[in-house]
Amino acid sequence: MKVGFLGFGEVASTLARGLLDQGVQILTCVEGRSSRTVDLAKSAGVELSQTPQEVAESSDIILSTVVPAQTVNVAKEVGKTVKGVYVDLNNVSPATVKKSLSYVVSGKTIDAAIMGGIKNGLKTPIIASGPDADIFAKLNQYGMNIDVIGQGIGQASALKMLRSAYTKGVSALLFETFYAAYRMDVDEFLLNYLSQTEGPLFQESAISRLKSSAFHAKRRAQEMDEVLEFLSDYEDPMMTRATCEFFHSLPLKTGTIKKKPANYRETFRKVDYKGK
Ligand SMILES: NC(=O)c1ccc[n+]([C@@H]2O[C@H](COP(=O)([O-])OP(=O)(O)OC[C@H]3O[C@@H](n4cnc5c(N)ncnc54)[C@H](OP(=O)(O)O)[C@@H]3O)[C@@H](O)[C@H]2O)c1
Repeated sequence: MKVGFLGFGEVASTLARGLLDQGVQILTCVEGRSSRTVDLAKSAGVELSQTPQEVAESSDIILSTVVPAQTVNVAKEVGKTVKGVYVDLNNVSPATVKKSLSYVVSGKTIDAAIMGGIKNGLKTPIIASGPDADIFAKLNQYGMNIDVIGQGIGQASALKMLRSAYTKGVSALLFETFYAAYRMDVDEFLLNYLSQTEGPLFQESAISRLKSSAFHAKRRAQEMDEVLEFLSDYEDPMMTRATCEFFHSLPLKTGTIKKKPANYRETFRKVDYKGK
């Protein structure tokens, strides 16, 4: 079994390491990519192809794990050379998935989404939909955790968008409320009092969200663009619009954060609300 990755960041390197351990052959192309991506691919020990088209041509299953804004571009780039199955794993709307998969003219296509962070490795829940989704789910025999949720392209990405609207909305609200609490030096109290109503798991998940929001803000802003586009087909999504704006503006307030902070106060110290 040969699995190819388009894009080799956090998701690809995590899945690749797990699959390599299970004896799956992994390939990618890092020509023209950043030093971070090159290092991730080299340290994972994957096979390096000269071009993305070569990856598409040689893979039984090809996974698109780029960034939301590049989803369509990479599909366009390799679409004519796909021989096996092309799986779009990016956080994008059903409309974007359909557009990207429309460029894959020669192979089978699958809509898929990662449900949560990739930190649990191969065990991270992934959902898939489309008439050929079962082929992707065969990777479960190598330890992956893929659940086929339907036969329609767009179903998996829709579910993911709905989950993101909720989780990223909560993250934005946490950041806003806890920043003011931090400035008043009552953030620990706020955590404790909220835990009394929100339950025992609240503290851990709130702290994790507060730590990751600014670090992943750029990617989340792109994801929220997709969520907003999706929900706008059904309603006037005011909360989602605000969350989208929040993640677009966060890097302007914190500056670029290159390393995940050890705690949320480290991020809050960097925040600049222009004199406030
Ligand atoms: N990380 C998570 O826990 C998680 C969870 C759920 C969903 N997702 C989704 O999974 C996808 C990948 O996320 P990630 O966390 O792995 O992102 P990441 O760490 O930022 O990696 C993105 C990778 O894509 C590459 N890339 C960007 N544009 C490209 C292009 N035009 N052609 C080829 N490669 C390109 C980047 O290369 P450079 O370094 O050169 O820019 C990098 O290797 C995203 O769509 C994200 O929304 C991620």
